[in-house]
Amino acid sequence: MTKQSSSSCERNQKPILDVLSRVLKDRKQVLEIGSGTGQHAVYFAPHLSHLLWHTSDDKSNHASINAWIKEFPSRNLQLPFEFLIGKHPWPSIPVDAIFTANTTHIMAKDNAKEMMKMVADNLQKGGIFCQYGPFNLDGNYTSEGNREFDIYLKQNGCGGIRDINELSEWGTGLRLIEKVVMPANNFLLIWESC
Ligand SMILES: C[S@@+](CC[C@H](N)C(=O)[O-])C[C@H]1O[C@@H](n2cnc3c(N)ncnc32)[C@H](O)[C@@H]1O
Repeated sequence: MTKQSSSSCERNQKPILDVLSRVLKDRKQVLEIGSGTGQHAVYFAPHLSHLLWHTSDDKSNHASINAWIKEFPSRNLQLPFEFLIGKHPWPSIPVDAIFTANTTHIMAKDNAKEMMKMVADNLQKGGIFCQYGPFNLDGNYTSEGNREFDIYLKQNGCGGIRDINELSEWGTGLRLIEKVVMPANNFLLIWESC
């Protein structure tokens, strides 16, 4: 399989990087949960050359991630390993930051809950969790487009858009320190392990 492409990655990678450059400036190792095509990793890693970027996802996505990394290698970019929340144990990498984009609304509700718990339990104190995607606020959609998207997601076997309040309840030990408004009715949530 060759490189897969996601147009949403192309649109959101610069606004996401602008935030990551700031909040990850003192971090050493980042675990990316659900690297998908691999586009985000190859774009972010060379811009964040002070840290090591670990990619992960289901094995079915590794060929694309590997193909992107082969074409755009970066000294600080690690090849993917198999990791799915709800299927695999937490990896034994001493990460001080975690990044995930557009995974929370894709995974089943139980897995979204498990992800918040796993991150809270395994991220070292002071560690940062950056979570990008569409989220609801106080039980409300942030746009009509997100309401329609949520219906589509649920009809197609995904868990759907989660409310920031429920993520906060599930991630006991994580403190939401920033809720950055992003283009296209998305947020970049910045959590700190405390
Ligand atoms: C919409 S894609 C987003 C991919 C990429 N992060 C991006 O922003 O383009 C959703 C990703 O979530 C991953 N995913 C789904 N369920 C997951 C789980 N239980 N644990 C980890 N990743 C999961 C999928 O394999 C897929 O790569």
